[in-house]
Amino acid sequence: MARKKIIAGNWKMNMTPSEAVKLVAELEPLVKNDAVDVVYCVPAIDIVPVVEAVKGSNVQVGAENMYFEESGAYTGEISAAMLVDAGVKYVIIGHSERRDYFKEDDALLNKKVKKAIASGLTPILCCGESLEQREMGVTMDWIRFQIKSDLVDVTADQVKDIVIAYEPIWAIGTGKTATTEQAEEVCKGIRECIAQMYDQATADAVRIQYGGSVNAGNAAELFAQPNIDGGLVGGASLKADFGKIVCY
Ligand code: 13P
Repeated sequence: MARKKIIAGNWKMNMTPSEAVKLVAELEPLVKNDAVDVVYCVPAIDIVPVVEAVKGSNVQVGAENMYFEESGAYTGEISAAMLVDAGVKYVIIGHSERRDYFKEDDALLNKKVKKAIASGLTPILCCGESLEQREMGVTMDWIRFQIKSDLVDVTADQVKDIVIAYEPIWAIGTGKTATTEQAEEVCKGIRECIAQMYDQATADAVRIQYGGSVNAGNAAELFAQPNIDGGLVGGASLKADFGKIVCY
């Protein structure tokens, strides 16, 4: 079964609203590829102008985070309903930077995944090992733990539509990409984990991205792997190179 590739930029804490609108305009002619889904995951304050700026194009907008509660006294947080109302389709959940710097744990991330799905958003659920874990030989054990904990009480039908991003922490922002073999091996392992938790049809449907120093030079080889269904791109999503990645 053919899975449509999904190539998403994760802008992280970059781009003021006016810079964001400029970047969208610059990228617009470069990211035209209807064969793939193109997503810009942008800082919360950029969501409204970026949704407006991508109107009529093939680009959809994602958020970088959200909170799981419906509404109320959660100063500084953004709800799923707010994202949906603003025109957001995707939301990154459990990026390693959120897990590390903001101490988001798997119990919290499970609540966020469930709330995103219930609200009609597509979670881009991130997982990935540290260099220490890779060197200890526990990469797949760790990733299975993350996936299983983050998907507690999520049904097969729901999992089919989510996106999972495998991002080895040691490859993020370091210029040190996982080798194609390393990336494919873990993405395959994630698919096997989903098949075990649910069934083969669910595993065959779920889209699994690779993230970590994806650039114009390595995207084509990574995306050619049987279990890699696109990429989650940090640094290179902020420049014209993103067009080359999308049209790999
Ligand atoms: P880089 O592409 O900058 O390594 O970042 C990857 C990432 O964290 C995407 O979410």
